[in-house]
Amino acid sequence: MRVELSEEQRLLRDTVRQFANDVAAPRAREIDESGEFPRDFFDQAGELGLAGVTVPEEYGGAGMDSVSYCLVIEELSRVCATSGVILSVNNSLVCDPIKDFGSEEQKHDFLTPLAAGEKLGCFALTEPGAGSDAAALRSTARRDGDDYVLNGNKVFITNGTDADVAIVFASVDLEKKHKAITAFIVPCDTPGFSHGTHQYKLGVNASGTTELAFEDMRIPVRLRLGEEGEGFKIAMATLDGGRIGIAAQAVGIAQGAFQEALAYSRSREQFGRPIGDFQAIQHYLADMATELDAGRLLTWKAAWAKDNRKRYTLEAAQAKLFTSEMAQRVTDKALQIHGGYGYTREYNVERYFRDARITEIYEGTSEIQKMVIAAQVLGN
Ligand code: CAA
Repeated sequence: MRVELSEEQRLLRDTVRQFANDVAAPRAREIDESGEFPRDFFDQAGELGLAGVTVPEEYGGAGMDSVSYCLVIEELSRVCATSGVILSVNNSLVCDPIKDFGSEEQKHDFLTPLAAGEKLGCFALTEPGAGSDAAALRSTARRDGDDYVLNGNKVFITNGTDADVAIVFASVDLEKKHKAITAFIVPCDTPGFSHGTHQYKLGVNASGTTELAFEDMRIPVRLRLGEEGEGFKIAMATLDGGRIGIAAQAVGIAQGAFQEALAYSRSREQFGRPIGDFQAIQHYLADMATELDAGRLLTWKAAWAKDNRKRYTLEAAQAKLFTSEMAQRVTDKALQIHGGYGYTREYNVERYFRDARITEIYEGTSEIQKMVIAAQVLGN
């Protein structure tokens, strides 16, 4: 594994950094306050090849590796965590499972427009009574001739307000628990598909989080993703990749907060000197820089493992666990360095502080990551 970025990866990082500064950053505050989903940002990101970074070019993607994907999510999240998660979900949770488990027809009809950014996707797993315990979901899929009839409710679905396509998980037999969970590719204009309340949140406020409901929604058998009963494993394998995206998002949020703290330490004077001259602030900055590097390296290691190993569950969970908790510490210190100003909306650090919090929760809480890591190290 190379720890240094390749020429191609550096070029990509610089291009996305420019795009993030020019397009995502100027609107970050506004969309955080309005909660309005930035569909035009997604369209522009798609034109740049960021909607399906690791999807082969023949299916509309950019055909790059997973470290490149991490660079994309980090650079966007550095200025706007909402923009980061919108693309992370489309890439990791929607394009990836169709790429890995879809039929040729499904790849043609769905993966290609999703990876090109012509369609937006969401991942509908979580339910009111099935968050951490994903296998406890209650949505049902009853076979009826050449269709399945889906009924159920989903919550906290990122991109849900604006998505064109949803990867939906439902059970063909509730008695059989995870062994009956089945995945479907669902066009969001299917009769019986509806949106519930838009869920306003502490942070990443414009990521289109919503409830979804399915009422006697008929989905043809050809839109089943994988076989009947394979859905839970598809969800888990997909989340392994998703957790790398969220780790990259956490690194990006922490990097953004660190940069703001660094600039403020140089410009803010107290007691007749820049506050960066004081050892207390220097120690904060030293810890932040060190933790950031550690988190970024764990994330790249997981991304490398994704491209080179069949199973990378351990590396992905470790990266997600460490970086999400690191982002809490770094954004907290960034706010502290800003003092009273950091607590106001005049500065970006309060937004970074709020945005970081979700990385410890979605795509598996820290407690779930520890369960996954323990199971892997114990060989269970
Ligand atoms: N890859 C492939 N297969 C896997 C797997 C993986 N990573 N993890 C588990 N499996 C398989 C197991 O081998 C097992 O297979 P068998 O039936 O053949 O034995 C099967 O799946 C069941 O595994 P477990 O017994 O370990 O399952 P569990 O019910 O105990 O749950 C869990 C495990 C890790 C707690 C899981 O429920 C989990 O990850 N929960 C968190 C859910 C989550 O992350 N939700 C995120 C929602 S999406 C989101 O948040 C997006 C967003 O907003 C941005």
